[in-house]
Amino acid sequence: MAYGQTGTGKTYTVGKLGKDDAAERGIMVRALEDVLASTMPGSDVVEVSYLHLYMESIQDLLAPEKASIPINEDARTGEVSLPDVSVVKVQDLNHFSDLLQIGETNRHAANTKQNTESSRSHAILMVHVRRSINQKAGDETASQEKDVKSNLAGGNGLPRVRKSKLLVVDLAGSERLDKSGSEGHLLEEAKFINLSLTSLGKCINAQAENSPHIPTRDSKLTRLLRDSFGVSTAGKYSSRVGDARHRK
Ligand SMILES: Nc1ncnc2c1ncn2[C@@H]1O[C@H](COP(=O)(O)OP(=O)(O)O)[C@@H](O)[C@H]1O
Ligand SMILES: [Mg+2]
Repeated sequence: MAYGQTGTGKTYTVGKLGKDDAAERGIMVRALEDVLASTMPGSDVVEVSYLHLYMESIQDLLAPEKASIPINEDARTGEVSLPDVSVVKVQDLNHFSDLLQIGETNRHAANTKQNTESSRSHAILMVHVRRSINQKAGDETASQEKDVKSNLAGGNGLPRVRKSKLLVVDLAGSERLDKSGSEGHLLEEAKFINLSLTSLGKCINAQAENSPHIPTRDSKLTRLLRDSFGVSTAGKYSSRVGDARHRK
């Protein structure tokens, strides 16, 4: 996550495409470069979604007509998903760069339409990697695969897939608009930005203190990041169902 006041280089650091000069690439492109270098096109699938979060409303930056997207949580595993968001399979780094550029254009358009600066919204890149662990990929991972398999009950011959998720977030500016005499719409906006940044801070503090409760329900941002806070296991989730009243 890139956090800081407007103008401190968050978007530059995470979002820069660096099409002409690889040294200019930001973290999103570099991360995908790394992911693509360690996956195999045949057996692994790399997919991305790119979202915009403004005033507690999620918009799809790859399909901007999709707005006010709901967050879904699997009641059993606590896994967070966004069933309505476009998920695009990445072919190669150039393809990803093009997607990011489309997203940036849409982010700019959304900000213009909402009459806000990009610094007032959060941009969230979600990368999903799926690997079939039945196909023996290579000797390097073979012993790990065996460990995983022996840990799994059954062995009913169904294909097993290992999933992982990476989120890269360009946060809204952290300046305190509420202290600078904002009114009307600006005040409402500042409340939402502060809500998500404050609840993000609370979750990070709770995690740093090894607290048994991480208050992810308070904002859309922290709900989206819920499984990144390590609160996705069934056991832990069931101890938190009492929080359901905070939903929405
Ligand atoms: N490391 C850097 N080197 C050169 N220019 C930078 C660097 N970081 C930021 N900038 C420039 O500073 C300005 C503000 O950066 P930006 O990423 O938009 O800030 P933020 O997203 O935090 O509001 C931009 O014009 C950007 O190009
Ligand atoms: Mg920015």
